Amino acid sequence: MTVHQAVLEEARTAIAAAPDATSAMETTVRLLAARMADYTWVGIYLLFGNELVLGPFVGKPSPHTRIPLGRGICGAAASEKATIIVDDVNDDPRYLACSLETRSEIVVPILTRVGENDVLGEIDVDSNRRAAFGAPDKDLLEAIAALLAPRLSRA
Ligand code: SME
Repeated sequence: MTVHQAVLEEARTAIAAAPDATSAMETTVRLLAARMADYTWVGIYLLFGNELVLGPFVGKPSPHTRIPLGRGICGAAASEKATIIVDDVNDDPRYLACSLETRSEIVVPILTRVGENDVLGEIDVDSNRRAAFGAPDKDLLEAIAALLAPRLSRA
């Protein structure tokens, strides 16, 4: 079993056991930051109206606690309803800096249901390593987003 597969199984158990939406999000960001070596900053934004609002996170406090839909890589992923991977944030003009050490980023929307596609929020992960994120990270975080979605819908 790969680390990604093991962490998905741990997330499945932890999210199922979480008593409410907030603790499901907290347990998710803590698990990802603790188990995934390259995940330097892990946070969940929730969509309220046209704004993404930062919820639970692990890492340095971000100046971007509220991001309008049209702004940043976070805003782009929510607008496009699709995962965005940026290998080098210095090359992406959309990037809103959270920490000077950040080199790469992945943002995964949390969608209500496959085929329905309302954005509830997103998982945002930064790494201090260039090109830290690939297909296994996309698969892992999209699977975790699908586990979180029903918990957030009921919140
Ligand atoms: N980098 C994000 C902003 C959030 S911080 O990284 C935590 C963006 O460009 O949208």
